[in-house]
Amino acid sequence: MGPKIATVRTTGSELRRVGLPGGRSLGIRRVVARDAAGLKALFAGLDEADLYRRFFSGHSPPESFIDRMARVEETGGIGLIAVLEGLDGSRRIVGEASCNPLPSGNGELGITVAPDARGWLGPYLLDVLVDQAARRGVANIEADVVVTNRRMLSLLHHRGCAVMDESDRPSIVRVTISTTRRVADWAGKHDKARVVIEAPGGHWRAAQALRDARFEVLVCPGPLRGWSACPALRGKPCPLAATADAIVDVVPGEPGSSLLAAHRRLHPSVPLCAELLPPLGEPASNVAVIPATGDTAFVVELLERVATRPQGDARSASSSSSR
Ligand SMILES: CC(C)(COP(=O)(O)OP(=O)(O)OC[C@H]1O[C@@H](n2cnc3c(N)ncnc32)[C@H](O)[C@@H]1OP(=O)(O)O)[C@@H](O)C(=O)NCCC(=O)NCCS
Repeated sequence: MGPKIATVRTTGSELRRVGLPGGRSLGIRRVVARDAAGLKALFAGLDEADLYRRFFSGHSPPESFIDRMARVEETGGIGLIAVLEGLDGSRRIVGEASCNPLPSGNGELGITVAPDARGWLGPYLLDVLVDQAARRGVANIEADVVVTNRRMLSLLHHRGCAVMDESDRPSIVRVTISTTRRVADWAGKHDKARVVIEAPGGHWRAAQALRDARFEVLVCPGPLRGWSACPALRGKPCPLAATADAIVDVVPGEPGSSLLAAHRRLHPSVPLCAELLPPLGEPASNVAVIPATGDTAFVVELLERVATRPQGDARSASSSSSR
């Protein structure tokens, strides 16, 4: 649990200010060029593992890179720093978060919290960044995350992230969060068929094959602690699923059956596929079956038919192509 904090009046260009125990306080403001030295000191305080999590290299970035980070606002991005102030008036940068514009209209996230300031600052700083990005019209924020970076993944899971890609390097996943809602959203323009995959952990064996076949794929991992934040399971339409061209449910057991039933009820016009059907004896209507042992080419073929078909054709696609 983090320290007891209290929001206090901001000063000057600050976006937020909180009072901390012991008379200290912390302000969040936009980064400016003269913060480069403070950023350098922040990164110098990270161990090799944290440097890798942040920069995908075990070394602190070169000064020219840090200078560019400090000027991110001049190049259309958003850059925030968290400055800790001691009772004696000392100031130290203990966190940074940035959002760089991407061609899709989304932003790319980078975030660091000093080891001695962790425990609450990461989520707080991310909230401010998300708020600033939304005000600037950035709909989604994307991040490359090392798969073992549980702190960062936990932070993003709480914001309803979905996995966009895992092809770059096997140890890194690209995830996306919406800046305005609790579930992820599609990026910008819509020139590919869109497939939502419901898969625990955000990983499914055929997801990358579908991406390679030019589908736009988002894999919804579900909240880390159960599925309670899933809108469909709470009886509410899921904006991501409602705007998909197909939904694939590979969640095993009861949560998977409930999810399938919820999607059939809430998003009746979106074709549904399931790798693991509920144990009901009769196959569910309007659900295309993906054999658990089928190869990924089969899945691509099936989705090519299902996702582009008019509504209601999912079952006939399944029965004509079952192996
Ligand atoms: C990632 C980072 C910004 C998170 O900030 P933070 O202040 O440490 O965040 P928190 O302490 O609130 O931890 C985030 C979550 O991880 C959980 N967590 C903490 N330590 C953990 C651990 N060892 N294993 C798993 N989860 C852990 C926390 O409980 C919290 O989950 P919750 O929200 O469900 O309670 C910070 O740890 C950091 O700078 N890491 C190094 C750089 C980095 O990884 N950047 C991200 C690049 S994409």
